[in-house]
Amino acid sequence: MCVFGTRPEAIKMIPLVCELERRDGITTLVTLTGQHRQMLDSVMSEFGVSADYDLDIMKTGQSPTDIFAAVLTGFDRVLAETSPDMVLVHGDTTTSVAAALSSFHRHIRVGHVEAGLRTGDKYSPFPEEMNRTLTSRIADLHFAPTEKNRQNLLAEGVRGENIYLTGNTVLDAFAYTVKDGYAFTDPALSRLDFTRGRIITLTAHRRENQGVGIENICRAAIELTRRYPDVTIVYPVHMSPAVRGTVMPLLSDRERIILTDPLPATAMHNLIARSYLVLTDSGGIQEEAPSLGAPVLVLRTETERPEAVEAGGVAMAGINTDGIVAAASSILDDKALHDRMASAKNPYGDGHASERIADAIEKYFGIEVK
Ligand code: UD1
Ligand code: UDP
Repeated sequence: MCVFGTRPEAIKMIPLVCELERRDGITTLVTLTGQHRQMLDSVMSEFGVSADYDLDIMKTGQSPTDIFAAVLTGFDRVLAETSPDMVLVHGDTTTSVAAALSSFHRHIRVGHVEAGLRTGDKYSPFPEEMNRTLTSRIADLHFAPTEKNRQNLLAEGVRGENIYLTGNTVLDAFAYTVKDGYAFTDPALSRLDFTRGRIITLTAHRRENQGVGIENICRAAIELTRRYPDVTIVYPVHMSPAVRGTVMPLLSDRERIILTDPLPATAMHNLIARSYLVLTDSGGIQEEAPSLGAPVLVLRTETERPEAVEAGGVAMAGINTDGIVAAASSILDDKALHDRMASAKNPYGDGHASERIADAIEKYFGIEVK
């Protein structure tokens, strides 16, 4: 049983769902919690995947407690009906930790995809750091994207034989989304000439950045378009009212700043691939962009993904306006630096993580592969 509820979980779990469905010895079910609605449905229809169950829990302005309570009880009903041999949860969302706990209450084994990321600060990112730490305590199998993630789990006492080094499934999704000669359907993007001028893709949505952080980020965007007449910033704005309430008043109707609704994953991946630079507080985008040739500046003060920073494709820019402008300017002013960052290796995998996870599950259950 694969369970997920947000956009990034869907993008990262669907390649695994597809891989599991190819395995003869495994029957695969999918439960959506509906922690997100439009942004989740968009990914499901794009990849042509349907769910067996949908808890449909989303409420405007939902708190982590609202989400947790609704998933805990809603998923318990699904488990009562289906009794799967294993539940697969992803990463650090409230959907994941609540679904893991529901499974534990019914003595159902849990596999944790994207396990072992840590900042070491329980309040940052909030509440994700605690969600993923608690999920690790519950999980029976841990699928770690990188060696560092594996080491984090070992240091917390997880037994080595239960950890599999797999890479991140986000790179598996490119097999479905990244296309040469892709044509954007969004009218504002289809009008953009990516060969003239430089495109910066911007996203910001994290709870800890909401309010002042996102306001600072918007001011940095305004300053960068003022300083660099050849730069256009594209910002697909998250559906969260807490995000839109800050971004729309500050950035609407600005020259060379294009605000869009959340983009389909295919459009997003092809936009990143055509961008000169990416500014983001997103976890998934930090993992994707190094494979798409775009340097990334992370709009946060800490990271659970230091591998790409060490590899050179990603740098930390913080959440102060001046710091973001300075970090972006250093890349916009120095083509050699840009090109070095753009060609850095992606440490998060090779596009075959789902196969390794499916192999590990077959091994765990002693499923004979014909
Ligand atoms: C959650 C994840 C976070 C992830 C983010 C991805 C947790 C703890 N955090 O953030 O790790 O980066 O999703 O985007 O689970 N909304 C809509 N329509 C949608 C989606 C959301 O209206 O399609 C609204 C919701 O009503 C909600 C707000 O956006 O009020 C925020 O969504 P929520 O899932 O609560 O986001 P986070 O918990 O901040
Ligand atoms: N993404 C998307 N459309 C958008 C913005 C992001 O498809 O308008 C994709 C992005 O390419 C990545 C994932 O959503 O695969 C990241 O999700 P998000 O930033 O919401 O969450 P995080 O990764 O920070 O948890």
